Formats: sequence, structure tokens, C-alpha cells
Amino acid sequence: MNILIIGSGGRESAFAYKLSQSKRLQNLFIAPGNAGTGVYGQNVALKVTDFDGIASFALANDINMVLVGPEEPLVKGIHDYFLNREDLKHIPVIGPQQEGAQLEGSKDFSKQFMDRHGIPTAASRSFDKSNLEEGLAYLETQKLPIVLKADGLAAGKGVLICETLEDAKLELNAMIADSKFGAASDVVVVEEFLKGIELSVFVLTDGHSYKVLPSAKDYKRIGEGDTGLNTGGMGSISPVPFADEAFISKVEERIIKPTVEGLKKDHIPYKGFIFIGLMNVEGEPLVIEYNVRMGDPETESVLPRIESDLIDLLEGVAQGNLDTRSYTVSSKTAVTVMLVAGGYPGNYESGKVISNIENVKESIVFHAGTATQDGHVVSSGGRVIAVTTLQDTLFDALQQATADAGRIYFEGKYFRRDIGFDLI
Ligand code: AMP
Ligand code: GLY
Repeated sequence: MNILIIGSGGRESAFAYKLSQSKRLQNLFIAPGNAGTGVYGQNVALKVTDFDGIASFALANDINMVLVGPEEPLVKGIHDYFLNREDLKHIPVIGPQQEGAQLEGSKDFSKQFMDRHGIPTAASRSFDKSNLEEGLAYLETQKLPIVLKADGLAAGKGVLICETLEDAKLELNAMIADSKFGAASDVVVVEEFLKGIELSVFVLTDGHSYKVLPSAKDYKRIGEGDTGLNTGGMGSISPVPFADEAFISKVEERIIKPTVEGLKKDHIPYKGFIFIGLMNVEGEPLVIEYNVRMGDPETESVLPRIESDLIDLLEGVAQGNLDTRSYTVSSKTAVTVMLVAGGYPGNYESGKVISNIENVKESIVFHAGTATQDGHVVSSGGRVIAVTTLQDTLFDALQQATADAGRIYFEGKYFRRDIGFDLI
């Protein structure tokens, strides 16, 4: 099988790594990929939203499946684009069509979906220009802190947790009246603050049946001890010790089944990954958000634990017979530590030469923001490299991943040395 992966981050490196282990893989392409993905396949210099370019490439290279990593092409309709073209519709795309991608593309849509299907989530109301005054009055009736969410995609910045009423009013006004996040904040979801511990649950579905993939915990803050600014994710672990069988079975009954059933009832076709961001509130799972893709850096911890052939599972999704595919998971623990550029998530420099990758022997090195320049591997993004270790125990995995993260060098490199240690 010839597969084209769309994307360029650590997540796509992990997909490339996993797919390259399948005996069924013939040719693997990654568009655009990074300095590390070339080990598993061939990079193709195409933007993830260049649908015409991706289509021409897929036809010219006899691509049998397109696996979409990031949300942007899904929300912009890459799957619909393939289905709508006579010459392309035979090529399965893994990732939902535009309508299903609204689960991530519009927080208001996803809240309405959850309300309609009785899926536990924080209480909320949505406001726009037409009822901004009502929104400001509503804030006065709510407990603090309160969460304001831009409806649309806002590069991970559209969620504000306001500690005071004054701040909440200012921000609601800025989002709606002054377009703080552009059109993404034309509609704002005002949501109850949930106190608990977060985790990410992943599901693969063909629209009928589903497989619950390993869950993971993502460490979002830049600083050790979960302090400082939010980032795309500084590390992850899988499995999550507190997400035991009893907890996951609550998630399955109350959230996963109603989500897959809800999509069916609403006649929304869905073939792909569902990433459920959950808050564990005293043992009860509540949905914080849906994403319509895998997480990054969660994928780097989740995929190495899947023992089954990923091509077989994805083919099950494409053909609508996922229920006939076998699926097993390793009991080992995976830990991923992200190496980031100095200054990230604020301003940072790129083009720093990365050395000593070859000294990492016990971990998998997934490139994220890297590029090749004058024969060197250099940094080209905020999150530069993800180091993943798989070990029998969480403690061993934490120690190994942290040690191996220290072995790689580039100027300004930073990583958290405490990923997962809170759960020992
Ligand atoms: P998102 O951009 O939707 O991933 O949200 C960013 C982060 O905001 C989440 O990972 C949570 O840590 C936090 N968050 C979102 N909604 C809530 C909520 N209702 N209660 C508490 N924290 C929240
Ligand atoms: N790690 C969180 C995300 O991928 O959105």
C-alpha cells in the first residue's frame, strides 16, 4: 500500500514510524514532513492546505490512502475535496469530512452536539454580537473562575480562564466586539470552570464501530511543576495511571458510545480519529473538548504502544469494517519529552544546529520542528524534537526519556525534567 501522510510535526513523525513497521507498506510519503521523516519515507514539498497539489501528487504516485495529521486541512475540507472529485474519490482519506471536523472547528457546534446527545460536559452558554449585553449580564450570575472560549480555531490560544468578573467582562467584550481572535471569536462559549486532572482519550472510528486507543496525559505548561505559559505540549505519558479500567469504562459508556452514536443519529459521516479532552472531576469524566485528529505530543506516546498493524486498522476505517480488525496494546509505559527552542512559547530563534541525536540509543527520536540546511539538521519551530521511551515501568520510562532528552544538543534547548513524575 502507498500512503501519504499530511503534516510535519512530531505527531506525523510518529505516524511515519509506526506505518513504516508494517509489512504491507510499499511507499510512504509525508507532505511536507521534516528533517526526520525522510528516514521512514519520502518528503514531499507541499503545504497541508494545498489540496490541488496534494491531489495531483496522490494521482501521480498511485496513493492508496491519505492520512491527515493536523486539524486545519480537515476543517478546510480536504476529505470532502477528495470525495467531490470523480478522479480522487476512490482514495480513502483518514480524517472526518468538514461537517464532522466542526467538532473541533466550532466549540459552539461541539457543545450543542454534547447537549443533544447527553454527553457530560461543563455547563455553558454561547454569545455573539446580537446578545453581547446578555452575555455580560450572564457573567455576573456565574461562579469564578470562568472559562471563555473562542468558537473557531485560534491556534490553541482561544481559551481564556478569567479569575475576576471584571476581567471576564473585558475579555468577552474584546473577543466579540473587538474581534480579539478575528472571526474565531465572533461567537464565544462561556463555560463553567472544571476542577480536576486532565487526560486525553483517543478513539479510532469508521463511523459505525470504534477502537479505544491508549489514553495519554499531556503536559501543557512550559515550566516544571505545571507553571508558566501554555504550550502545544511539553511531553506526554501513556497509559495514565489514574485512567484505570473502571474509569475508562465510564468514559466508554458515557462519552465514546454516545459520541459515535450521536454522529450516526445526526447523519454525520466520520472516518478517523476522535481526540476527547477530558477532565477527571473526582473520578467522573467530563468532556472539555473534542479534536478531530490525534494529539501532539500524545501520539508520540500512544502509537509506540499499539502492537497491531496500523495499516490494518486504517484500512478497517476506510472500508467500514473496523470491527473485524484485531487490536492489541502493549502494557509498557511510554514517556515523551519535548525539546523546545529557547524562548518558546514566546519568540524564539530557528536555524540552530542539532547534534548528538545519534547518541540516543534507548529512546525513539521523533523530529518535530526540524529542517535540513547545508547538510545539517537545524531547528525550524518552537517544538523541535520529541524523545519517547517505552519501558516496563513508569519510573524507568521517565528516567530514560529524561536522560535521553539531555543527550541531544542545540543552542537554547529547553525541556521539562518533571514530565510524569507527578504520577509516580
Ligand atoms: P483548549 O484550547 O480547548 O485545548 O483548552 C485549553 C485548556 O484550557 C485545556 O487544556 C484546559 O486546561 C483548559 N480548559 C478548557 N476548558 C476548561 C474548563 N471548562 N474548565 C477548566 N479548564 C478548562
Ligand atoms: N496536545 C494537545 C493537542 O494536540 O491539541
